[in-house]
Amino acid sequence: MAGQFPSDFRERLLDRVEIADIVGMRVQLKKAGSILKGLCPFHSEKTPSFIVTPSRQTYHCFGCGAHGNAIDFLIEHDRLEFREAIEELAHHAGLELPTELNSAATGPDPRPQYQILEQAAALFRRQLREHPQAQRASDYLRGRGLSSEIAVQFGLGYAPPGWDFLLKQLGQRAEARTLLERTGLLIERDGRRYDRFRDRVMFPIRDRRGRVIGFGGRVLDDGEPKYLNSPESLVFHKGRELYGLFEAQQASRQQPRLLVVEGYMDVIALAQFGISYAVATLGTATTPEHLTRLLRSAPELVFCFDGDRAGRAAAWKALENALPQATGQTPIRFLFLPEGEDPDSLIRQEGTAAFEQRLEQATLLSDFLFQHLQNERDLNSDEGRASLDAAARPLLSKVPAGTFRDLLERRLAKLTGVASVARRRFDPRRAAVQTPTQLNPMRRAIALLLDDPKLAPYVLAEANEWREIESPGVRLLAELLEVISARPDISPAILCEHWRDSEEAKIVSRLSNSALLAHIPQEGRAEELTGAIRRLNREGLSILRQRLLAKASSKGLSAAEREQLRDALKRQS
Ligand code: UTP
Ligand code: MN
Repeated sequence: MAGQFPSDFRERLLDRVEIADIVGMRVQLKKAGSILKGLCPFHSEKTPSFIVTPSRQTYHCFGCGAHGNAIDFLIEHDRLEFREAIEELAHHAGLELPTELNSAATGPDPRPQYQILEQAAALFRRQLREHPQAQRASDYLRGRGLSSEIAVQFGLGYAPPGWDFLLKQLGQRAEARTLLERTGLLIERDGRRYDRFRDRVMFPIRDRRGRVIGFGGRVLDDGEPKYLNSPESLVFHKGRELYGLFEAQQASRQQPRLLVVEGYMDVIALAQFGISYAVATLGTATTPEHLTRLLRSAPELVFCFDGDRAGRAAAWKALENALPQATGQTPIRFLFLPEGEDPDSLIRQEGTAAFEQRLEQATLLSDFLFQHLQNERDLNSDEGRASLDAAARPLLSKVPAGTFRDLLERRLAKLTGVASVARRRFDPRRAAVQTPTQLNPMRRAIALLLDDPKLAPYVLAEANEWREIESPGVRLLAELLEVISARPDISPAILCEHWRDSEEAKIVSRLSNSALLAHIPQEGRAEELTGAIRRLNREGLSILRQRLLAKASSKGLSAAEREQLRDALKRQS
């Protein structure tokens, strides 16, 4: 993702913006010496523990541990995608986005495809008003109870009957025909081309920025298939996009929740009745990517399903899918509709207030999880409780480690009567992060350098044997030194940015949490770093010695290596 923006561009951008401005526009900050303080926007608090440090170009909360640079802040605070955060910052800084983004480096240029899709959408809209045969389509929409305002808002259109409407209108030139094919508007078979969508009501599918990326087309009668959808293309990925998300965010930047329904018609009917926060997946199950996007876009998420067996099964699937991203921060709920109803029919029947009441009472993920597991099990028997435990464990283990998972485990323990939480609670990986003194020397060295790149000379002044150790940490430390050497005045904010794309991104983010070092006074940092490097060098020295001794007894040593070994033996004693 981040690779779409070359790292030198990201660095230039971070150089150009002032994090205090970016944060200051969203959080009230007060100057306190060289830093700024405010109430943390990421958790609720009464006394400020959120600071912005201009000299480092980072933010940090001592209450909840949130931290990062300006890009991170926009992603977390404005719930933006990485790309959007970059665009926002670039706009703020008056920087042009690199133009090569859309060129060879990132594959074919999508812009002509967006253009042709937009042209097609405009033509379809016009046909709904003007085409001689469009009366049936508008009658159909009216019959479904759609107002013309809502039809306009969602850009509904009409693809006329016949085989060559678009082909004639847009496909005069060969390049245009190719584009129409690539975007799935034309089908080619046996050397002949014809329109995919014929005599259908057209629902344009828009991406988050409002660009048309595909269509759904509904028949006007009982024909099959009921809905025809654009195939995937360069610009249209069903696993990523959500129908109605753009319209929802247009209606309000701060929706109280997002509601995931099944159909295009449901989204539109709900919007007409004032529920402007419904979205639909595009005929697929919700993907992890959908979830990330959904969880980021509103403070609550509700999945809506039929009340029948199939609906329950689909809901369970959605739950399993959601577990790896369930932290309890954004509550996830499940709404089961009365049998035979969909949101479209239900809201017309009972009105907005009643429907919203259902939403507010929708089942929480944690409740659905345990209800489902308890069903068909007799918790009065040991067998039933053991079976519950066995079924629940693998599910709970998918939930990210943290308070929410702890709470789910505690609930399971209550149900089974086995106090397994205490046994499992100790997670050495988490403990290592939470207790700064447990950072091993490697991590301590990395954390110190990430926090203050100016300390790098202290490492370079020491011996180099730590490089003998083979571990991901050593590679990271070496790379860190390399980056700092190339730019000795680099700020911590930009330094971290270097790893956003890489496998190490997570560990870098975790170690760049300055709270880890809070117990080391500023004036003790250099010494702490030197101490860590020396400890690593002792380890490296013994590896070096063993390596050379082994080589001496097999292939023999060169003069230089003999010298190195002698030195190593001397230094170790
Ligand atoms: P539904 O059949 O529940 O659609 O399919 P709906 O929105 O209630 O349809 P109406 O009310 O009869 O107009 C839900 C979704 O599944 C996909 C579409 O995305 C649809 O909105 N679907 C359904 C298809 O892609 N193709 C089909 O033939 C049917
Ligand atoms: Mn329906």
